[in-house]
Amino acid sequence: MSYDIAWAKVDLKKVPRLVSPEIPGSKSRELHGRATRIMKGYSSQVKLFPVVFEKGRGCTLTDVDGNTYLDFSSGIYVTTLGHCHPKVTEAVQKAAGELMNCHDFTTPLKLQLLEKLVNILPGDLRGVQLYDSGTTAVEAALRVCRAATGKCEFLSCYGDFHGKSGHAVSLARMNRTNGPARASGFYMLPRPNPYRPLFKKADGTIDTDEYIRFFDEFIVEATTGQVAAIVLEPIQGWAGSIFPPEDFFPKLRKWCDQRKYLLVADEVLTSMGRTGKYLAMEHWNTLPDVVTLGKGFGNGFPVTAMVVRAPYAEAIENISASTSYGGNPMACAAALASIVAIEEEGLLENAKRLEDFFIPRLEQMKRAHKIIGDVRGKGCLMGIELVKDRATKEPFDEAGKQVYQRVFRKGLAWIPAGHILRMSPPIVMDVDVAAKCMDIIDEAIGETEKELGFGN
Ligand SMILES: Cc1ncc(COP(=O)(O)O)c(C=O)c1O
Repeated sequence: MSYDIAWAKVDLKKVPRLVSPEIPGSKSRELHGRATRIMKGYSSQVKLFPVVFEKGRGCTLTDVDGNTYLDFSSGIYVTTLGHCHPKVTEAVQKAAGELMNCHDFTTPLKLQLLEKLVNILPGDLRGVQLYDSGTTAVEAALRVCRAATGKCEFLSCYGDFHGKSGHAVSLARMNRTNGPARASGFYMLPRPNPYRPLFKKADGTIDTDEYIRFFDEFIVEATTGQVAAIVLEPIQGWAGSIFPPEDFFPKLRKWCDQRKYLLVADEVLTSMGRTGKYLAMEHWNTLPDVVTLGKGFGNGFPVTAMVVRAPYAEAIENISASTSYGGNPMACAAALASIVAIEEEGLLENAKRLEDFFIPRLEQMKRAHKIIGDVRGKGCLMGIELVKDRATKEPFDEAGKQVYQRVFRKGLAWIPAGHILRMSPPIVMDVDVAAKCMDIIDEAIGETEKELGFGN
């Protein structure tokens, strides 16, 4: 298709555009109030800012009161290429007019997607199955690990999130409604977090080797010795954009190889350009045995994938892999068009260009605000950690909540995470728009700091 490549351009004289006397406006409040009488279980993102959106285009969102916001969350890390990317929209519309569902029969479009996908992924990631949510892709990854190894125990890390079904919840922190107990055979390990290290070297920096040594000790003491795989998010999203130390994944890969454990990278949140690469694991030159893709994979259309390295690919035959909606024609169209858009529009490069702007700007903000304990980011995945005291690193949840709401009221839509501000703008953003977004956040942190008595 042909379209103006400036489709996602934002005129900063017109956006953000806040026209209602109150934000969220009266229409938003009224419609959301009615919806909450029926719909239960809203996320804190909505509860803290109950706006009702009507339209989205590129890096902007418009609500029912006519206010237009800049988007700094891509929904929930989903619309990586911006809202309603014309290539994706057209592809989905066309597919919907041709064929709705034919289970897992091959279609020409599906074949095109499969060949394109294995072509852009690193190494010998060759065996694919398509799903309709991140959770079902993660569950399939667990089944394939069991089938490939004949073993049944899984390790994951503190702070990880992998979805909300029976075994996916057992890979993360549990709560009372997740079951009577963690599913048997699932174990949690401490994850190296450079800002809050548990194991440190004499100089106070994180000691990755000590974590891995502890993993061995833990396996002997806690498991039955039937570990199939370790499952991790390359960069933790829900926990607050937690990045690993640079040496963690290469060392973990070696450890897995030596002990014959599979390495599963849950890249539902981090893949398809979010960090400036197709897979975040590429930043550490580490090839996982199994990878899950989601969110930005179809730029908003529910399509996800599990991809397995060649030596284990045949194991997919043994897990009853197909689902009703996985790989339906619209899903394949959305995923294929998203990859084509990334390629044709140089969007991995744009994510890197944005990172080159964001990182120094985040560092500058850290110097300016003493409630900022840490800043971090890769591509368009970033975090700002707010603390009451830089020495004790005590999390500052009240500041996190206030900054979230203030920023939204100033016209920037994003995601809260307690004391950590999580940022995931679309990778089609221009640097001048990114600068405007950071100005808004900077200003809101300054105001919050002052209000809470932490100002200069
Ligand atoms: C890393 C990761 N894995 C799995 C999931 C679950 O994906 P879904 O909500 O599509 O089921 C998520 C969702 O946020 C995620 O961030």
